[in-house]
Amino acid sequence: MKVLDAKFVQGFIRMCNDGWEQGWHERNGGNLSYRMKEEEAESVREELQTGGEWREIGTSVPGLAGQYFLVTGSGKYFRNVILDPEDSLAIVELDDKGERYRICWGLVNGGRPTSELPSHLMNHEVKMQATGGRHRVIYHAHTTNVIALTFVLPLKDEVFTRELWEMATECPVVFPDGVGVVGWMVPGGREIAVATSELMKKYDVAIWAHHGMFASGEDFDLTFGLMHTVEKSAEILVKQLSMCPAKLQTITTQNFRDLAVDFKVTLPERFLYEK
Ligand code: 13P
Ligand code: ZN
Repeated sequence: MKVLDAKFVQGFIRMCNDGWEQGWHERNGGNLSYRMKEEEAESVREELQTGGEWREIGTSVPGLAGQYFLVTGSGKYFRNVILDPEDSLAIVELDDKGERYRICWGLVNGGRPTSELPSHLMNHEVKMQATGGRHRVIYHAHTTNVIALTFVLPLKDEVFTRELWEMATECPVVFPDGVGVVGWMVPGGREIAVATSELMKKYDVAIWAHHGMFASGEDFDLTFGLMHTVEKSAEILVKQLSMCPAKLQTITTQNFRDLAVDFKVTLPERFLYEK
């Protein structure tokens, strides 16, 4: 099968375009990666090259040795992915130590995978282990309202989680584990990758102060839906803070406890503090 005919590739392209349409991907902002199933790599084998040069990932992910990933290219624009996926995307294979990668398909006009490859792969490694292999998608987006909130809220998991939960009743059901926050760091390197993957042990969402968000999920729908839900909640919070910084009423701690029972989710106690 041709790479572009594969269902996972079409889902990936659609998700890039959905993110662009949301306004989360100015210029080359944001990146996406998908950990391919063995049978998916097999199904497109006829188009995978094996002669590419091995390059350093910049970190070590031994748990992902030998696996294939579909990723966006560095400097590529999400708005162009749907028009020319072979220019914007790449399939990369990892070596048997999980320290180097090589390009097997895509980036036909040159280039390299996203500069956030260390964060993507370290998150994949953590989430693969934490979910028994179910999570396959890692998504980074420059979500406007979440970024705005990182200038006005304390950069604490407890504050962001609780404030975002209060903005929409579905939130504690969609992200019951909450969200993690990292303070401002230089993007694109191992240090921010380590900090983010540490948060991913506990959460499916990590906020990068003054930069954006990372989300992890099983498939494109769930991961995009998670990003969308968190960002929409942040938009409501921005509106509320703009209209009237002191809430007249809200979803209470007891409301959350009642919701958790009916929707059969476990909400960590540290987010259920009395305000
Ligand atoms: P890339 O173009 O290298 O993917 O970088 C975009 C980005 O959002 C960096 O955080
Ligand atoms: Zn970014």
